[in-house]
Amino acid sequence: MFGKKTPCEGYLDLINRKYGRSESLEILDKIEWDFKDFTTQYLTHKFHSYPARFIPQIPLTFLKLFSKKKETIADPFCGCGTTLVEAFLNNRHSIGNDFNPLAALITKVKTTLINKEELLYLNERLASIKSKLDVDNSQIDERLRNMPRRKISKLFDRKIISQLEAIRETLLEIRAEGFVDIYDLGQVALSATIWSLVEHGIVDVKDLFLRKVAHMENELKKTAKVMKNIPNVLVLNSDARKLEVESESIDLIVTSPPYVNALDYYRVHMYNMFWLDMDFNAFKKHEIGAHSRFINNRFRLFSEYLGAMLRSMIEMNRILKQNKFCVIVVGNSSLEYELIESHKFFAEMSKDIGFKTIKTIFRTIDKTKKYTSADIGKIDDEFILILQKIENINVTPESDVFIAETVTQQMMQFREKLKHSQGTSIRGRKPTKERLLKNIDKIDDAINKISKDIIWT
Ligand SMILES: C[S@@+](CC[C@H](N)C(=O)[O-])C[C@H]1O[C@@H](n2cnc3c(N)ncnc32)[C@H](O)[C@@H]1O
Repeated sequence: MFGKKTPCEGYLDLINRKYGRSESLEILDKIEWDFKDFTTQYLTHKFHSYPARFIPQIPLTFLKLFSKKKETIADPFCGCGTTLVEAFLNNRHSIGNDFNPLAALITKVKTTLINKEELLYLNERLASIKSKLDVDNSQIDERLRNMPRRKISKLFDRKIISQLEAIRETLLEIRAEGFVDIYDLGQVALSATIWSLVEHGIVDVKDLFLRKVAHMENELKKTAKVMKNIPNVLVLNSDARKLEVESESIDLIVTSPPYVNALDYYRVHMYNMFWLDMDFNAFKKHEIGAHSRFINNRFRLFSEYLGAMLRSMIEMNRILKQNKFCVIVVGNSSLEYELIESHKFFAEMSKDIGFKTIKTIFRTIDKTKKYTSADIGKIDDEFILILQKIENINVTPESDVFIAETVTQQMMQFREKLKHSQGTSIRGRKPTKERLLKNIDKIDDAINKISKDIIWT
């Protein structure tokens, strides 16, 4: 398709040209969406692992084709900031939001250039960590007592805790001196170190942390070199159902919401948040799609999820300018052995809230590039839903009756569909007939409880 050029060069050629909107839509059909063999971890994208992040080429494609320089791009579920980094590198202003405080921090750090003097000062201070490794025992005991209770706690032995504490204390001193940007950078490096500890077991904490800081400094310097203009970035740490963003101020949304029943970010990041003094319980309460709720009837989790997603899509409609695009990337999920094609539900619900579906793109995921959890549900392909805002609406995220009615309608259609095609599982295990029959009863139960389950506080 791209002649003698490499797929990456051909792709860049394609998206870097100027087109009218209908031509841009046609270009989408020419893109090989699996982005096989493309580099996805460059510059600040590499700072910190994050489950179910999308590859940078997804937001890059849309912001190149459907926005201009200096326009504003938003991502209400920004995760580790992939959309914002691409907006930043391509001279678009951006607003990101995530209820996970760790996600908001990573996003901020990836999009904040720091001057040389501050980086030098950070290095000087970090050199002093060595002398601080003897943290007193009472501090260690207190940490051990307060540690989140998971099997993994044994990874945090006394030596590791004393190293983590020494780093934490030095960072707190840096913050007290007023150096917020280098403090934040240090916090992200500390979190990445803890992530390695949790994922790979015992590591040399101090060595890993210092290498991580050096790597981040280097990538920020490289980023500064390639940037001609520095666009504005705003990162919010709030609920996507209520955004502190002006109405009709956004030129493009590119986002990937949580998948229903896929993974609980608050659990994944429990230890990171613990060491960074972040409140994971507040996030747990507001996390959309988290699978620890409604374990006896997953369809109740699903209607709760649809209600939460409808509220956040109402917010997306509010903040977008007229006729602009909202791109939502989402994969299928599995609930009670049934396939849940979330993108179809989003497309259906969006009709009632001032959007028109323009296109749905299917892409297979390179599993090495997307975090999947085998126990919870495989995410091996995903859909890119392109919506256009065609009108303002008079419902708000607080319009409970409207939300309940819309979700009820969706759930009733889902029940009718299941009656004819039960048991389409994405897990490859065949459910018993008995179990499948129970699902209809469970959906009825979920429908009866919608008004209660979609309550949002
Ligand atoms: C699929 S991830 C987004 C990943 C992102 N596209 C990236 O590249 O890093 C979904 C995000 O939704 C966030 N989230 C869950 N519930 C939320 C809520 N109520 N408000 C805002 N963000 C929420 C999670 O913390 C998670 O970061």
